[in-house]
Amino acid sequence: MTTTGGRAGRLRIAVLASGRGSNLQAILDAIDAGTLDAEVAGVFSDKPDAVALQRARDAGLHAESLRAKGFASREAFDDAFFASVDAVRPDLIVCAGYMRIIGAAAVEARAGRMINIHPSLLPLFKGLHTHRQALDAGVAEHGASVHFVTPDLDGGPVIAQARVPVLPGDDEDALAARVLTREHPLLLEVLRWFAAGRISLHERSVHVDGTTLSHPLQLGANHGFA
Ligand code: GAR
Repeated sequence: MTTTGGRAGRLRIAVLASGRGSNLQAILDAIDAGTLDAEVAGVFSDKPDAVALQRARDAGLHAESLRAKGFASREAFDDAFFASVDAVRPDLIVCAGYMRIIGAAAVEARAGRMINIHPSLLPLFKGLHTHRQALDAGVAEHGASVHFVTPDLDGGPVIAQARVPVLPGDDEDALAARVLTREHPLLLEVLRWFAAGRISLHERSVHVDGTTLSHPLQLGANHGFA
């Protein structure tokens, strides 16, 4: 069993981000507002110019980047990158727009302690350009998922999802914007449940309050799980 429950003190989160960092900002704002009982122990990026890093610095947080260029292998990069992440002693590692594939060894060493937010209703539309994939497939509904990270890219056990309609006339940008407004409350609610020690990973199963989850939790209109 791997769990983030039973720890002493507030949930310590390390955020991994490659870009704009709106999910990171949602976390920081919720902590500031007192609606998420957690602390961000550090923000880490593979892109030195990621806006997410600036958001972290503006908030007075530890912010660090490491370029993959120059490393001999994915494993060598991951070893160096995650040594920095581990140094801030996170209870939970949150991939929030971290666009680099993480090697199996680094993932397995942190099983049950690393989650990712992905802009689709997994298992649909893994990988990149998920909004385009959804439009091309002609689905009526799209959304976002938070899942445990496993070596299977975007294939780890799904904890929770938020759904949005696909509307007539949607283009990629319109659909992405609609999904993003639901990503932030989705991620925050998952983090609240982690902070309360309610979510854990057992083998390939998500446990909530000690019981195996048969279907992903669904975010309701009130931003809680239905
Ligand atoms: C979010 O839409 C997130 O779901 C997606 O990147 C965006 C990051 O936005 N993640 C992936 O596509 C991971 N495969 P943000 O930097 O504003 O939080």
